[in-house]
Amino acid sequence: MPLQGKKILLVIAGGIAAYKSLDLIRRLRERGAKVRVIMTRAAQEFVTPLAVGAVAGERPFTELFDLSAEFDIGHIRLAREPDLIVVAPATADLMAKMVHGRADDLASTVLLATERRILLAPAMNPAMWMNAATQRNFARLQADGVVFTGPEAGEMAESGERGLGRMSEPLSIVAAIEKNLFDLPARDALSGKKILVTSGPTREPIDPVRYISNHSSGKQGHALARMAAIAGAEVVLVSGPVSLPDPSGVKTIHVETAEQMLNASEGALPADAAIFAAAVADWRVTKEAAQKMKKQDGKLPSLSFAENPDILATISRHSNLRPRLVIGFAAETENLIDNARAKLMKKGCDWIVANDVSTGTATFGGASNEVHIVTATGVEPWPMQTKEAVAASLVKRIAVTLGGSRPGGAR
Ligand code: CTP
Repeated sequence: MPLQGKKILLVIAGGIAAYKSLDLIRRLRERGAKVRVIMTRAAQEFVTPLAVGAVAGERPFTELFDLSAEFDIGHIRLAREPDLIVVAPATADLMAKMVHGRADDLASTVLLATERRILLAPAMNPAMWMNAATQRNFARLQADGVVFTGPEAGEMAESGERGLGRMSEPLSIVAAIEKNLFDLPARDALSGKKILVTSGPTREPIDPVRYISNHSSGKQGHALARMAAIAGAEVVLVSGPVSLPDPSGVKTIHVETAEQMLNASEGALPADAAIFAAAVADWRVTKEAAQKMKKQDGKLPSLSFAENPDILATISRHSNLRPRLVIGFAAETENLIDNARAKLMKKGCDWIVANDVSTGTATFGGASNEVHIVTATGVEPWPMQTKEAVAASLVKRIAVTLGGSRPGGAR
């Protein structure tokens, strides 16, 4: 059974989609998971604790100040024991509370007290989901490391209402749970260490309104920075233009061009390890036009290019400030391993994280990544997993290599 022995804490908040949570509990238990449930007061208006208890096989927890439950398990144990906390349905109100770290009932207190991963399956009216406040909260929670499944588009429970806001179906939530059940690095795995991460694309100007860039979303680099911070490192993230919020607990430096990225990266040295996850534009236009280039009756403009500095190679070869561990990425569309090996040599780094970005793999911009770790001694294929999970595994491997205090379950 895929979830055998896994402990899931399900928080049911108050929304009509709460009826689907009963099915979710059943699906999780069928797969061998042990499900413990917290219901908010509002959730109990939609499904009864009796029904939830019958499906879960144990009494749901409902009160913060419940003497018998507190003696039995206690809210701190509720927060610490699960492998993953799932909030389904997650309401706009609960998301807002999480953003502000409020703890005025059992659900919000446990969500604040936990060090476990939290997966939210939002469900709300489309207008509430699209409201700027909810979108702000959504972005903030993602930057804090909370992961999401849904909401989905479609017909809402209120008749005639359509749009983005439906809770994901129980089986999609189960799939998201399976993907997110990976171990985070230990909180002190990288304490006392400084890690530099580059992320996102660079943007090389042609004129004041045009530029050369690429499809990098920054998801992998940002996940690495966040994960290194979770592991207790001092993290400097040098990020090209991305639509992701700055990760919590990380010093983020925003840059546009490759040259600026190089300067900011060099400025962040010394560091114990450097991870170059950015997709740096290889070329820049030699001379940026001072004014917007105008069309000239069918005459095509000619641009001349210069090669950008190679940030990874420059820092790998730094005479006195080379970090102990330098990690590059290789985005390849063919001959993945051979090209990655060649890059390892050419750039002078210690590891290459090689990923296939050929058409159809959806690595660029997507949530998952299938990588190979290429080192001087061999090639390690890793399974297809979320970018978060890749980041967690890589951070654990870095901690082992740097001899951090406690790497915590490194592969
Ligand atoms: N990189 C860098 N500076 C550059 C180009 C690449 O730091 N100017 C880093 C990337 O962050 C990545 C690694 O080098 O860690 C490899 O990037 P990739 O785009 O795969 O390789 P390129 O060097 O651009 O080689 P090619 O385009 O020929 O595959």
